[in-house]
Amino acid sequence: MLTITPIGRTLGARIEGVDLSRPLSRADKAAILRAFGRYAVLCFPKQSLDPVQHKAFAREFGSLEVNVAAGHYTVPGHPEVMVLSNIVENGKPIGLADAGQDWHTDMSYSEPVAFLNVLQAIKVPFRDGVPLGCTEFLDMAAAYDDLPAAIKMRIEGMTATHDFNKFWEEMLKRPGTQRKPLTPEQRAAKPPVSHPIVLTHPISGRKALYCTVGYVTHIDGVSKAESDELLAVLFAHQLQEKYKYKHLWSEGDVLCWDNLWTMHNAVADYRPDEHRHMRRCQVMADWVFSPEAKALAAA
Ligand code: SIN
Repeated sequence: MLTITPIGRTLGARIEGVDLSRPLSRADKAAILRAFGRYAVLCFPKQSLDPVQHKAFAREFGSLEVNVAAGHYTVPGHPEVMVLSNIVENGKPIGLADAGQDWHTDMSYSEPVAFLNVLQAIKVPFRDGVPLGCTEFLDMAAAYDDLPAAIKMRIEGMTATHDFNKFWEEMLKRPGTQRKPLTPEQRAAKPPVSHPIVLTHPISGRKALYCTVGYVTHIDGVSKAESDELLAVLFAHQLQEKYKYKHLWSEGDVLCWDNLWTMHNAVADYRPDEHRHMRRCQVMADWVFSPEAKALAAA
């Protein structure tokens, strides 16, 4: 039987009693969907998914993205399964080594945006018995709730522009990065997009700040000075420690998180010889906004 155990202050739950390599029952899928709306970050320990099973589980919740910059960092024959890894074989990196290493919301630069990241830990670095390379999360619904009423009124109805290249450019500045500047074709495939700054969650109905540090370049329809001033306030507000949940990985964890009301950061506290190896599917926020998903969550 599926059990859900909360593990953080607001974000985070551990889900046991379900084998993700097999099709989900309707009841389990409904319980998991509701848990995304309640806890956002769900850890399914002791799982072992091959790429076909990984995709099948992720597809239960929406269509899968093929990352525009994945290049050869995908599992052969499975372009939807990206490899995040610092392992080098025969002089060649087998995955993207620095994915997600700063605060961001996956695919906020996209239309539609992303619902879930489904990340499976194949290899986790340890030092002195302590796991390294944790992933941190911030609760953007709590951050919205805490905003002063005047700011809530000010941002209601406002939109912000999100640009894939913003995060990429920041990563390019890091010494030793394996990334190359995006090609004109990659830029054209993911042009900047606008989204409302306040997002209403399709399952919980809660409002959340959707204004990620990693990708938002400016607020639309206001002067640069006003945009810069408001973004500085929102960015500082949402990065507060009190909104944080930290996931310490174990091999076999499948960690799934709801991007609609979180930001995250992959902590790069391990050396090149301390190997971290993950496989990832990104689920788009298409199905989750459908009447079918709403009905299932209410079942
Ligand atoms: C990501 O942002 O997709 C990667 C997160 C991680 O590797 O912890």
